[in-house]
Amino acid sequence: MSTSAQSAFAQAAIDRGDLLALRCVACHGPGGTSSAIPSITNLSEEQFIAKMRQYRSGAGKNVMVTRTSRLTDEDIEALARHFAARPRPLMDDGR
Ligand code: HEC
Repeated sequence: MSTSAQSAFAQAAIDRGDLLALRCVACHGPGGTSSAIPSITNLSEEQFIAKMRQYRSGAGKNVMVTRTSRLTDEDIEALARHFAARPRPLMDDGR
């Protein structure tokens, strides 16, 4: 793959993450930084992907299980890139 094709692909993946992230803000707050529900911007991409896969496997039996059940690995990676690129919240909850 040429360098320009690679960056076009990366760009498309980021845009997909932006799109999918619209489904998360109702609960996690704009930018993913709710204080009532765990903030999802403080996680590394690796932690984020691990958590999402864990929920998708049915672990935890909470709302995140249904939220993740139809996401592909690519969706989860795109979401991880989206939220890992966000700044830390101003009102940090200590996580
Ligand atoms: C209906 C409300 C709701 C929606 C929509 C939602 N979440 Fe969640 N999310 C929660 C709740 C509640 C928790 C805490 C669950 C627990 O106790 O493990 C959580 C936990 C998480 C966690 C783990 C945070 C941590 O530090 O433990 C991640 C990551 C996450 N959500 C990502 C997402 C993403 C990405 C989306 C959009 C695809 C999304 N959530 C949509 C309610 C929601």
